[in-house]
Amino acid sequence: MSYLESLRSNLLALTESAASLDAIEEVRVRALGKASDIAGLMKTLGGMSPEERQVKAPLIQGLRAEVTEAIAAKKQALEAAALDAQLASETLDMSLPVASLPQGSVHPVSQVMDELAEIFADLGFAVATGPEIEDDWHNFTALNIPESHPARAMHDTFYFPEDKARDGRRMLLRTHTSPVQIRTMMNQEPPIRIIAPGRTYRSDSDATHTPMFHQVEGLVIDRGIHMGHLKWTLETFVKAFFERDDVVLRLRPSYFPFTEPSAEVDVGFSRENGRRVIGGSDGWMEILGSGMVHPRVIAACGLDPNEWQGFAFGCGIDRLAMLKYGMDDLRAFFDGDLRWLRHYGFASLDVPTLSGGVGA
Ligand code: DAH
Repeated sequence: MSYLESLRSNLLALTESAASLDAIEEVRVRALGKASDIAGLMKTLGGMSPEERQVKAPLIQGLRAEVTEAIAAKKQALEAAALDAQLASETLDMSLPVASLPQGSVHPVSQVMDELAEIFADLGFAVATGPEIEDDWHNFTALNIPESHPARAMHDTFYFPEDKARDGRRMLLRTHTSPVQIRTMMNQEPPIRIIAPGRTYRSDSDATHTPMFHQVEGLVIDRGIHMGHLKWTLETFVKAFFERDDVVLRLRPSYFPFTEPSAEVDVGFSRENGRRVIGGSDGWMEILGSGMVHPRVIAACGLDPNEWQGFAFGCGIDRLAMLKYGMDDLRAFFDGDLRWLRHYGFASLDVPTLSGGVGA
C-alpha cells in the first residue's frame, strides 16, 4: 500500500470512529491542521518539478478534499445525533396525570361577567367595551356632569398628570362604566341594546371598596322605551342571575345626573340560619342604580331625544359575586391568594349556560 493510501485509510478510520463533537474536532486538527501529514504533503508540492507536480498534486489535493468532506459529514451526523438526544431528553409527556399539579381556576369576577353576558345575550344584548383610560368628556361632561358638578368630587377620581398634547388636560382612570354608553351611542345607530362589563377605578379602600373594581353598564336606546321596560329587564336579569323565581325588586326614587327619572334598585332577602339569602322580603339590599337616559345625554351623543329614548343601569360586579357566592371581604378578590382562588374559583370547563344554570 502506498504512503498516500495508508494515510487515507488511517484518517478515514479515525474520522469514522470519532464518537463525539469534541473527538471529531480533534481528528480535524490532526488530519488537516498546520502540523498534519496532509499539510506536510502540500508543502512538498512547491519543491517538485512541474511534471511530478502534475501527477502528485491531484492525488494530494484529492486526499485532502476527501478527508475534509468525510470529517464534515461525520460532524453533521454527530450534531444531528446530539440534537436528537437533546430533544428526547426535553420531551414533555402530555399524558402525565395533572391531578397532582397546581391547577388554575376561573376567578369569580370572570365567572360573573360570563354569566351576565349569557343572561343578557338571551335578551338580545351585545357586549360593548371602552377604554379604562378615559377623558373627562366621556367620563363626566357627556354624562351631564359638568365641571362644577358635585358628583365629580364624589367620584374620587385618579387623574393622570396634565398632558401637553391635549391642551394641558388630564386623562383619568374611568370611575364607572357609564362612558361606554356615550361611546356606544356615538358609534352605533339605534336601536341599541348593550351591556358593558369592565374595570373601574376610584381612590377608595375598605372591606367593601377597592381602588380597582368591576361594574357592568346596561343601555337600551330605541323608540318608545319607558320605565316598564327597565323594570322587566332588571327583574328578568336578577331572577336568572340568582337562579330564584321569588326574587323581589324595589325601585326607590334616586338621583343620577345622567338619568331622569333615576331609581336605585333594592333586592329583597330573607334569613336562613342567620344568613342573608336573596329572595323574599325580610329586608332590602341595594344592588344597582338605573333610570331613563337623560335627554341631555342623548343629545350630547348627537341623537334627537324626541325620537330616541332609553334606559340605563350600572351595577357592581364584585358585589354581585359576593352576594351570589357568599364572600364577605372584597379585598380578598384581588389578593391572588391561591387558597381563596381554589375555594371560590370555577373550573374552566364550567361555562355558564342558561339551560345548565348560569352559576353551575
Ligand atoms: N355610573 C353609576 C356609578 O358608578 C352607576 C349608574 C347609575 C349607572 C345609574 C347607570 C345608571 O347607567 O343609570 O355610580
